[in-house]
Amino acid sequence: MSKHAAKRKWLPIDYHKRINYIHSLVQFGAQVEYRSFGKLDWKASALGFGTMRLPIIGEDQAKVNEPEAIKLIRYAIDQGVNYVDSAFTYHDGNSEVTLGKALAGKYRKKAKIATKMPVFSVKRKEDLDRILNMQMTRLNTSFIDFYLFHSLNKTLWNKVKKLNMLKWAEKHVAKGRLGYLGFCFHDELEVFKEIVDSYDGWTLSQIQYNYLDENYQAGKTGLKYAASKGLAVVIMEPLAGGLLAVNPPEEIRNELEKAEVRRTPPEWALQWVWSQPEVSVA
Ligand SMILES: NC(=O)c1ccc[n+]([C@@H]2O[C@H](COP(=O)([O-])OP(=O)(O)OC[C@H]3O[C@@H](n4cnc5c(N)ncnc54)[C@H](OP(=O)(O)O)[C@@H]3O)[C@@H](O)[C@H]2O)c1
Repeated sequence: MSKHAAKRKWLPIDYHKRINYIHSLVQFGAQVEYRSFGKLDWKASALGFGTMRLPIIGEDQAKVNEPEAIKLIRYAIDQGVNYVDSAFTYHDGNSEVTLGKALAGKYRKKAKIATKMPVFSVKRKEDLDRILNMQMTRLNTSFIDFYLFHSLNKTLWNKVKKLNMLKWAEKHVAKGRLGYLGFCFHDELEVFKEIVDSYDGWTLSQIQYNYLDENYQAGKTGLKYAASKGLAVVIMEPLAGGLLAVNPPEEIRNELEKAEVRRTPPEWALQWVWSQPEVSVA
């Protein structure tokens, strides 16, 4: 866990604040910027939409407020966002369900879906097909654009290898059910490099990265390493889970106040991430 994680709290979700936030980022960049995505002949919006913290009803993370969440996702896509990130486990599965509803009809063509195999929950090979089939049903799609192995560390990477999960995934790529393969990562830099180097079929990796976590886990070195090997890099926690939006460290606030350009703390945090050309989406 990041040394900052303990200070972070699960922030309440305010629909209007989130709409204003997306709006301000879009205005801030004048229009959504598009970036190269590893070796693909496709440009991703620099601003992505993560569906790990959708609006909920009450305190239960599984109870997504679907109408508000769908409006948020569609609003972001209408502004030009074309990369939406989910996972089997988010909101107890209801992130994928809500995303499936949000992308119904014309929206499916406008955005690419990234979702993840919960490697930590897989016990045997048969679980893989069962989980993927559930994801397809939840997402209401026959094709997942980007499929990541969730939360890889040394132990889970060994499990991926032991259960031949890459061969399994390649089979589904060949069948046209999955587009491109990737992994998201939570461990030390050396493990990151090992995973990048062990398989030449990776298209993307997802790392935790923000101005507090510059040298944490994969960090800046990992970002540059993956990009140098042709992987697209997608950023999770660009605002340190909200900490940098709500309560940036005092010494950083002081520096930001001195700047001639006026930006809000979340804009500064995203600007820092985007200032690095190796980043495709944050
Ligand atoms: N693969 C993995 O292991 C993994 C791990 C973590 C995340 N992710 C992915 O990455 C995505 C982004 O991660 P994250 O959610 O941790 O990102 P983040 O951008 O670091 O933090 C998001 C939090 O910041 C808050 N926030 C944003 N703008 C704000 C503002 N202007 N004022 C106040 N609060 C603001 C949001 O509040 P509101 O919710 O109220 O808008 C939200 O709680 C996730 O949704 C998920 O898809 C993946």
